[in-house]
Amino acid sequence: MTEDGPGTRVVRAGLPEPEQGEPFLPGPVFAAPYHLSGDPYTAPASYLRYGNPTWARYEEAVGGLEDAEAVLFSSGMAAAAAVLFTILQPGSVLAMDAGCYHGVRALTEAHLQSRGVKVRLAAPVGLADAARGADVLWLESPSNPELEVYDIEALASGTDALTVVDNTTAGPLLQRPLELGADYVLTSATKQLSGHADLLLGYVSTRGPERADALRVWRRYAGAIPGPFETWLAHRSLPTLALRLERACDNAMAIARLLAARDDVDGVRYPGLPSDPGHEVARKQMRGYGMVVSFDLGGAERAERFLAAARLVTDATSFGSVHTCAERRARWGGDAVTEGFIRLSAGVEETADLLADVERALNVRH
Ligand SMILES: Cc1ncc(COP(=O)(O)O)c(C=O)c1O
Repeated sequence: MTEDGPGTRVVRAGLPEPEQGEPFLPGPVFAAPYHLSGDPYTAPASYLRYGNPTWARYEEAVGGLEDAEAVLFSSGMAAAAAVLFTILQPGSVLAMDAGCYHGVRALTEAHLQSRGVKVRLAAPVGLADAARGADVLWLESPSNPELEVYDIEALASGTDALTVVDNTTAGPLLQRPLELGADYVLTSATKQLSGHADLLLGYVSTRGPERADALRVWRRYAGAIPGPFETWLAHRSLPTLALRLERACDNAMAIARLLAARDDVDGVRYPGLPSDPGHEVARKQMRGYGMVVSFDLGGAERAERFLAAARLVTDATSFGSVHTCAERRARWGGDAVTEGFIRLSAGVEETADLLADVERALNVRH
């Protein structure tokens, strides 16, 4: 029997075996303690911080998409912290992509360097050198917000370091870093996995059972646990992931083309554009190029004008939602971007409507 494609697998991922009179996806289980007598460690359920059937179903669903074990956390950052704190010790060397998500860099700076972890931040071309002799290599591809594309297989095979890939901008349907040699994959399910701009969630996937156990122990004692309702909502959104992605990737490509064809827009980055510096590597390691496009409108004033003028592009942070959103990234600080740099996340609106709106907003002169 041939294996179903990912767009088919998401539809029933993590659902229990059909049972007469039972729902397809059982509702969220709300319980802090469970009825329990005897050994709490062998009981089916004991206390919410130790486990929950709603998490277990979602973990089975998203882990299955990567043929891995997934350990769920309350946010992408909680998942990132779990990986970093379970694998780094005082004296460990961490080689990190300098353009990775600013929250992860800030966590490293605030809490790991002061505990004796040596951090080598490296720009794209220097990352392979920085990883030599390191204990952990951390990279993000495509990176947020600059959309640098790293050759995951080349980097992972060129080092003995444990390789962690933040796969948030691509997600498990567009890129499978464990197959390219990564040891851990971090995904913020806040983005396209849940896809409706209504919750925070994150998970780590790994094929090492002891690694997954260490992450679960961290979760239990650090307490970075997801709520059952958020988990259930994310599971509820999973069956439409492939459909949403298909439309969002098409929209992102159309917008990137429109932007690249204009001479009043600079620095358009989208890995799907054949002219993009990351295109060849992206073509090799991704099944689609994602929903995020970045570009430069030459200064804060024009960028703000564009955001204010657009009707179908909501001025908001984050990405991966059904709604097209964009923001002037320099408002936040923490990234090496210009004042006019925009990160846009394509949603699932009709392509022609979006293109007309983006074009009109770009043409507003004052
Ligand atoms: C690449 C990347 N990694 C991690 C995170 C953190 O995820 P969360 O906001 O779910 O904590 C984000 C959030 O924007 C992100 O873009």
